Amino acid sequence: MPITTTPADFVAWFRSVAPYINSFRGKTFVIAFGGEMVEDGKFVALTHDFNLLAALGIRLVLVHGARPQIEQHLARKNLEDSYHQGIRLTDAETMQCVKEAVGRVRVEIEALLSMGLANSPMANADIRVAGGNFITAQPIGVINGVDLQHTGSVRKVDVAALNNRMNFGEVVLLSPLGYSPTGEVFNLTLEDVATATAIALDADKLVFLMDTDGVQDKKETLLRELTVNQAQAVLSATRTLPDDINLFLPCAIRACEAGVARTHLISRHTDGAVLQELFSDEGIGTMVVESTLNTLRDASIEDVGGILQLLRPLEEQGILVRRSRELLEREIERFVVLEHDHRIVGCAALYPFPDEAAAELACLAVDAQCRDRGYGEAILDHMADMAKSQKLKKLFVLTTRTAHWFLERGFKESDVTALPAQKKSLYNYQRKSKVFVRKI
Ligand code: ARG
Repeated sequence: MPITTTPADFVAWFRSVAPYINSFRGKTFVIAFGGEMVEDGKFVALTHDFNLLAALGIRLVLVHGARPQIEQHLARKNLEDSYHQGIRLTDAETMQCVKEAVGRVRVEIEALLSMGLANSPMANADIRVAGGNFITAQPIGVINGVDLQHTGSVRKVDVAALNNRMNFGEVVLLSPLGYSPTGEVFNLTLEDVATATAIALDADKLVFLMDTDGVQDKKETLLRELTVNQAQAVLSATRTLPDDINLFLPCAIRACEAGVARTHLISRHTDGAVLQELFSDEGIGTMVVESTLNTLRDASIEDVGGILQLLRPLEEQGILVRRSRELLEREIERFVVLEHDHRIVGCAALYPFPDEAAAELACLAVDAQCRDRGYGEAILDHMADMAKSQKLKKLFVLTTRTAHWFLERGFKESDVTALPAQKKSLYNYQRKSKVFVRKI
């Protein structure tokens, strides 16, 4: 994340955010957070971030929880918290506490969303909060002989009513309650309301604020991006996962499978986590998507700008030879590009020499922000396959600075004499590139 200390940094950072601002306008995001957010006093800062999202024209549905507040109410009335297979059993007295607690949290949230203090990020904010009977619920019923009574699940979401509110520029705030056609109230979970709503609205994003930073692998490294299949593999692995992940990752899978483009699992403890996740390429937590965001494809003339941007820093460091826009335009069909999330993050070019059954792999580059993701290998393998399909037998590279990378990937050091005749005559003796060759 760039630290905006100098005006130039600030300008560069602000510009880098423009693509997100453009693509998020008019999109629907469902953002869910537990009652802890209000309890811990962290909600004020979150309000500022919601305000910013709303100001950018994002259609917002906020879903709040009220678990700590419900527990406090129960404790005050000396009532036992009762769970059956991880689901709260809501009897009539508990339901009373749920209504009171949810009502109280809701009022606090509405109050904070109404702030408009001068000299604060909320100056000039004019958030209208909409609430209502948008969620129809049904009882969960009897599980293994235990009647869960007023505990329910979402049966229907009133999409037309929600869209009407958002068309008027209102921010919808949903509570974890639902009503039945017989006039009953049901206690719902935050994650069920958020997931069902995101699916029903065909939302572009579903965001869960959790206690943990995101999904981690066995070595506790944050997994920044998971496809639905990878997410399922995480859940079915034998290791024990934090409660949060067990709760929210299945929701992310359910949402993505039902067409919600992206689900984000991020920490509620990091100030500005929502902004960091949404307005940066690498995000801050785990993003679950239906299928991979990477595509490796032949380059076209529209890619020249993106390739130039990728190559410039490497050319400036002397790692790659300088290529002009004209040269790239002329030779664009030699290039392949690797896109991540519609941004060019890698490229390479293949120059075949059929007479010598060889090909030069040139201009292999990967964006510095995307190191250690295996992109370089993926491009190299792709180029080797391309050369193979043209019946070529060896791949060579000329490099001054990245010899080790190629040696580690099966290339052997050679010299100028190994180059095809035509290439030999063009060899730049001043640059003193080393020649590496690999059989394919
Ligand atoms: N900012 C982008 C988005 O909101 C990408 C976020 C990537 N996040 C991640 N955890 N990998 O879609």
